[in-house]
Amino acid sequence: MARLQAVRGMADILMADTPRWRYLEETIQAVFSQYGYQEIRLPIVEKTALFTNAIGDQTDIVAKEMYSFDDRRGAGLTLRPEGTAGCVRAGIEHGFFHNQIQRLWYQGAMFRYERPQQGRQRQFHQMGVEAFGLAGPAIDAELILLSARIFKKLNLDNVRLELNSLGLASARLAYRQILQDYFKDHQTQLDSDSLLRLAQNPLRILDSKEPSMQALIQVAPLITDCLEPESADHFAQLTAILDDNGIAYTINPRLVRGLDYYTKTVFEWVTDAAGAQNAVCAGGRYDNLIEQHGGKNTPAIGFAIGLERLLALSTHAGLLDRAVPHVYMIRSDPPPIARYMKLAETLRQALPQLRLIADCSGASLKSQFKKADKSGATLAIMPLDDDQIEIKFLRDNQDQIQKNHTEIIQFLAQELFSEE
Ligand code: HAM
Repeated sequence: MARLQAVRGMADILMADTPRWRYLEETIQAVFSQYGYQEIRLPIVEKTALFTNAIGDQTDIVAKEMYSFDDRRGAGLTLRPEGTAGCVRAGIEHGFFHNQIQRLWYQGAMFRYERPQQGRQRQFHQMGVEAFGLAGPAIDAELILLSARIFKKLNLDNVRLELNSLGLASARLAYRQILQDYFKDHQTQLDSDSLLRLAQNPLRILDSKEPSMQALIQVAPLITDCLEPESADHFAQLTAILDDNGIAYTINPRLVRGLDYYTKTVFEWVTDAAGAQNAVCAGGRYDNLIEQHGGKNTPAIGFAIGLERLLALSTHAGLLDRAVPHVYMIRSDPPPIARYMKLAETLRQALPQLRLIADCSGASLKSQFKKADKSGATLAIMPLDDDQIEIKFLRDNQDQIQKNHTEIIQFLAQELFSEE
């Protein structure tokens, strides 16, 4: 039989790592709450057309990376490659955009058929925010300040902010033409990937990492030259707010993003840390997307953090000890098993913060004590045949004492949870 293995690019997150994940998720959630964002939970599967229309059928994501399939009735469905399209669909469906301001956050698994490597998976996890109904640059700044606060809370100083404006759709269209003409003039210098992008999506050539393309990209025309006054003004106001709030950034006129829905502000938090994928957190404004999907004109902006990438950068130990039990309960025979289980329940009921493992193995006492030791528990307790409970300290010293059923709760509370 073939060896059992997870699907390539889809990793298990094992017990040694889950405490760090939880720590990261809880820290980020706490910052989202500080800014008044509310959680939304969305399906993992959506109709394929949603993503094709929202992200753009010429993008790499839609053209090459989606996990799409027909369900049993032939409906075309896709595992979500990102969260923004689903949020937009939900807002239109439930009518929570119209004349309202919404600040939402979400988290979960996303799926893209990319070539797996360090920091790039086929199933990966994002935590993202989307703000709807606010057109001015203040909300752009809020999102950037919020993301900066997350990095600060996580003690990450190896990320930096890159910003650009893609302007209104008209500016982008004009720029597309200019760029296409420019690259056509240098067609013989294009690598195969860029040649493919030339007709359909010339902006993406700017993203090329191909060394032989860099000189050409460096002197390519810039979107900045095509920006209409409205977008240029919006961008200037945004950078002024960031300046006043001490947020450092680089304006990168070649930052174009891999999804087609963006208008005006786009940004990425990137890292230069060795071996890591460049972008840890990315997003931007998408003022036309809701209308394009049949909703009322609603300005919108959001970003998503890639949790695997963030985790690779964070060195914090997190709450690594959170799953370590306080008490390991040894079972001797007698007393009867029912009494043993009942004591375990009584203790959990009385001390809600207590982490207690009941040994259900039926193994010898020696082996149970070994397990207790290995579990990291502070105390091993063993109910005896009378009212007494034997208590063994497993860490600092190996003292042994006895308490009865009435004393034990008070004793554990004092020993494990009192502040002194
Ligand atoms: P994105 O740039 O495609 O934007 O993805 C956001 C982040 O997800 C990336 O910066 C990266 O950290 C992480 N990421 C993307 N692909 C992978 C992968 N294959 N493996 C590991 N991490 C990955 C979006 O998804 C937009 N929905 C963001 C947004 C929200 N824009 C507006 N609102």
